[in-house]
Amino acid sequence: MIIVTGATGQLGHAVVLALLKLVPASEIGVSVRDPRKASDLEALGVRVRQGDFADPASLQHAFGGATQVLMVSSNAWAYGGDPLAQHQAAIEAAHAAGVRRVVYTSQIAASPTSAFAPAVDHAATEELLRQSGLAWTSLRNGFYASSGLMSMGNSLDTGLLEAPADGKVAWAAHADLAEAAAILMANPGRYEGPTPPLTGSQALDLADLAAIATELGRPVQRIVFPDEQLGAKLEARGMLASAARFMLGNAIASRNGEFGPVDPALEQLIGHPPTTMRDLIAAKLGR
Ligand SMILES: NC(=O)c1ccc[n+]([C@@H]2O[C@H](COP(=O)([O-])OP(=O)(O)OC[C@H]3O[C@@H](n4cnc5c(N)ncnc54)[C@H](OP(=O)(O)O)[C@@H]3O)[C@@H](O)[C@H]2O)c1
Repeated sequence: MIIVTGATGQLGHAVVLALLKLVPASEIGVSVRDPRKASDLEALGVRVRQGDFADPASLQHAFGGATQVLMVSSNAWAYGGDPLAQHQAAIEAAHAAGVRRVVYTSQIAASPTSAFAPAVDHAATEELLRQSGLAWTSLRNGFYASSGLMSMGNSLDTGLLEAPADGKVAWAAHADLAEAAAILMANPGRYEGPTPPLTGSQALDLADLAAIATELGRPVQRIVFPDEQLGAKLEARGMLASAARFMLGNAIASRNGEFGPVDPALEQLIGHPPTTMRDLIAAKLGR
């Protein structure tokens, strides 16, 4: 049986729907914090069990009978939790439950020296997997295309895209990454350890995104402001100082080219061209 964690989140949910096209529902289960949020999957024949990375006993039950677990990385940083401790608990629970292989949603920039804090956690989680004695694959997912749209903020309304200097990012859409994850779960052994970067086919910075919107008929001007102004600008929007540190790390990592490498692996895995930022911006504009 294949167990997917985070199946009430955007990526995990899409992975389960993609897996249902590849393997029988009776061979798929989910480990979710709130089973009520997975009732749609239960209705499709998927086994739903409660599992919280912060509660190891729940995970061991949720992983029961699994040969493989897709460990969707936790978003604990968003609610003050410790993602690395949570991932460690999940790996230990997988071991205790007799799971043979863990597939982990890592990130293109995973490195102990990344300027982007989550990428340091991804690298540390890969190290835990390396030491776990389990078979493992880490999906080096490109930066989410949805984050690219988020970085554009309300620029499609205001015509101004203001942010610190950034760099090129090989944006990847959730739907494509989910399809790739499902294919790799259904075909174990295709990659051992970290995959190549799973990316879209183009690396684009915020100026490029503004240019695409402009070409699509919604003029957007890219305005660069100094890093030092980020905290005050976010505060004015009601955001916390920790968000400024996070976003500054993101900008520095992108300037350093950490999110930039384009690789054909995603397209080769899913067998069709990846979704483009142009597709997504056009959809947002209703074009
Ligand atoms: N590649 C990238 O560029 C990129 C960008 C942003 C984030 N990420 C990472 O990718 C992950 C998946 O992305 P997404 O878009 O699907 O995020 P999402 O929609 O926010 O989903 C996160 C999932 O993690 C689950 N989760 C959080 N804390 C947990 C815990 N203690 N125990 C078990 N599950 C827990 C959430 O459960 P609930 O539904 O119960 O809240 C949810 O299902 C994120 O969590 C983050 O680590 C990657």
